[in-house]
Amino acid sequence: MDLVALIDEKRRLIEAALPDYLPQLPQENSFLTEAMRYSLLAGGKRLRPILAILAYEAAGGLAYEEIMPAACALEYVHTFTLIHDDLPAMDNDDYRRGKLSNHKKFGEGMAILAGDGLMIDGLGLVCHSGAPCKYVVRALKEFTEILGSSGVTLGQADDLYGGEANAKFLRHIHMRKTALFISFSIRIGAILGRAEEATLSELHRAGVLAGMGFQIMDDILDVRSSLKDLGKTPGKDSEDNKLTYPSVYGLEYSERMAKGYARRAKRIFSNLGEKWNTLSLFTDHLVMRNK
Ligand code: IPE
Ligand code: IPE
Ligand code: MG
Ligand code: MG
Ligand code: MG
Repeated sequence: MDLVALIDEKRRLIEAALPDYLPQLPQENSFLTEAMRYSLLAGGKRLRPILAILAYEAAGGLAYEEIMPAACALEYVHTFTLIHDDLPAMDNDDYRRGKLSNHKKFGEGMAILAGDGLMIDGLGLVCHSGAPCKYVVRALKEFTEILGSSGVTLGQADDLYGGEANAKFLRHIHMRKTALFISFSIRIGAILGRAEEATLSELHRAGVLAGMGFQIMDDILDVRSSLKDLGKTPGKDSEDNKLTYPSVYGLEYSERMAKGYARRAKRIFSNLGEKWNTLSLFTDHLVMRNK
């Protein structure tokens, strides 16, 4: 199987579907819609929806209309987290996805609102899945749990306002702000694909390991990469004294840790059987990347 071709095909499907769920222009408040479109359709790796589709298919799901709204929902909500993460009151970043960040282009007020719109429309989109109601409700319940005050929101708060600068707190931040969302992106596909309970728990374990590896690599790329490759300004973490894996463990050891997380995640996917092999292979793309 050609993994790169498979992933490209999924990415194309997602790119084509993403605008379908946006409010259509022109409409009364087209400025809001324009700000939402600007960040949502600016590219990005689309890793979360790809994970969802791969997991849905591995679980045996066959219907495009069951997974596509949920896969797009992940990208809507993820884009909201990026817009708010870049605000001057948070990381104060001027570039995102190779363009000016949302507030630089539209102003802070509109960036807050564009983020709100993408988050709320994104959560609502889950309900457009054609899967039976009980799976959709479960997906939505878990989505709000991983996003809310014990998930991404807490991770972002602790990233911003700090705490003890130690390895345990660092792991807690990365788990909350990023790894849970990556893990959920896999689980939502598996939930809508009617995976068994035992499989769902294994996927949670594999997903958070892959998600930790993913965020450690994000920290590494902030040190190592360029604006051109990343589409966002490098060097910001050390400038802002962020608690990151390279700041605690150094670059080389951080890379070993990222690889270790990926290896452990892949082992779990492999143990789930042949059908999960694509996700195992995709874990390397997720973690060992250069942008
Ligand atoms: C960036 O996510 C924010 C993190 C959680 C590290 P991505 O690296 O997936 O960003 P895009 O979607 O490709 O822009
Ligand atoms: C962002 O982490 C996590 C979320 C957006 C939830 P970062 O602040 O490290 O992400 P980048 O580096 O700005 O993409
Ligand atoms: Mg941040
Ligand atoms: Mg940031
Ligand atoms: Mg970062």
